[in-house]
Amino acid sequence: MTAAREHFGSRIGFILAAAGSAVGIGNLVGFPVGAAKNGGGAFLFIYALFVLLICLPVMMAELAIGRRFQKDPLGAYSSSAGGGLWSIAGWLSVITPYMIAVFYSVITVWIFGYLVGALMGNLDQLADPSYFGQFINSNEVFIHLIVVVGLVYFILVSGVKDGIEKGAKILMPGLFIMLIGLVIFVLTLDGAMAGVKYYIVPDFSKINASVINGALSQAFFSLSLGMGILITYGSYMERRENVVGSAKFVALTDTMVAFSAGLMILPAIFSFDPATDTDALSDSSVSLIFSFLPKIFLAMQVSIGYVGASIVAILFFTLVFFAALTSLVSITEVPTASLVDEKGYSRKKALSILGVSMGVFTIACILSFGRVDFLTQFMEYAGANKSLFDVIYDIFYDTILPLNGLLACLFVIYRWKKHNFNEELEQGSEDYRGSFVEKYINFALSTFIPVVLLLIFVNTVATKYF
Ligand code: PHE
Repeated sequence: MTAAREHFGSRIGFILAAAGSAVGIGNLVGFPVGAAKNGGGAFLFIYALFVLLICLPVMMAELAIGRRFQKDPLGAYSSSAGGGLWSIAGWLSVITPYMIAVFYSVITVWIFGYLVGALMGNLDQLADPSYFGQFINSNEVFIHLIVVVGLVYFILVSGVKDGIEKGAKILMPGLFIMLIGLVIFVLTLDGAMAGVKYYIVPDFSKINASVINGALSQAFFSLSLGMGILITYGSYMERRENVVGSAKFVALTDTMVAFSAGLMILPAIFSFDPATDTDALSDSSVSLIFSFLPKIFLAMQVSIGYVGASIVAILFFTLVFFAALTSLVSITEVPTASLVDEKGYSRKKALSILGVSMGVFTIACILSFGRVDFLTQFMEYAGANKSLFDVIYDIFYDTILPLNGLLACLFVIYRWKKHNFNEELEQGSEDYRGSFVEKYINFALSTFIPVVLLLIFVNTVATKYF
């Protein structure tokens, strides 16, 4: 008999941990640029609608599955067994986070490297256009990798309450304070308002089918849906906790952080380069963080000096690093929980196994940027050579999440059944029964949400790989 399952110690602890998972590079960089390029206020409006109408019900479904079965996703899906489909869903919710953790580690390691660079006073070097290419293939990266893996291990090995919850309670308030500080600072810069205007003023002419698809995918992964995380975190929730209310709070926090990040990034860009050709802003968060923003920070030395500019860069990279670390913790917890629940391993043993095996994959990804040919040209599709890193990103981050979300919806409605799902949500939330929210969630999960998720999945497969 294993020890009693550990639970989050408080509602706020759960909320901060789930928000820590949700708030990541996607919010801080991906969202602002996506919004600015795709219609500003118009994109925000569509994004908010998706969060409310589609993502929130899926989020509640995942949390409810976890809390009901008190197990990792693999165990939850198979404990009400009955057919291969559900064990496929279970396996997908373990393999997906495992692989995402691998590629997300690579980016977190880079962020850490840039943070160290800024701390050492090397902002001018970071801003050099050729630096990123050299940096990712330098041996320094391996040292940073050890630090990042060590931090994740250290946080997770202490368990749910003393590790994940405590980590989130320290990192998340720090993140909020830095974000608010940077937003206020950036808004006081000359010419900042042009950026705010570019970010917010709605331009409905930019909205088309692919923007809509993009907004939904962005909302989906920004809330950490389809990765098994919320099932796992749900399994650490007490019965008396309010799943419905907590989910709303997490979604709101995530969206507000994403929105605020736009008030930090776009005014900074416009203020230092009013002639910014916004169409040339990269869609990729990676090139924005590592190539574009360091240049902007360096340009700030004109008004606040080199040290001032370095401080801004340090704050920014610390902010992104905290966000990435809490996301990495949450995603690594999923396979950890599976090894603990399914194999009966101790957390230490599970984390050691994962640390080593994921470490090997991560190193393979790090070597796939030109150092090892076979990894650099790992596969070829859609007319391009893809590195191992690209392939993992394309499959596990960009394609499979809506499918996992779809399986979660189908599981709740057809396997677990609506009345059981509703009973679970009523626990801890007395006003749920008979409410509008209940009616809406039940309707949406059994009708249009699965259809929309299926369409997105098929559309992504068709456009990405053929
Ligand atoms: N929600 C995160 C983001 O917006 C994505 C993520 C979550 C990535 C968990 C990895 C692990 O960036």
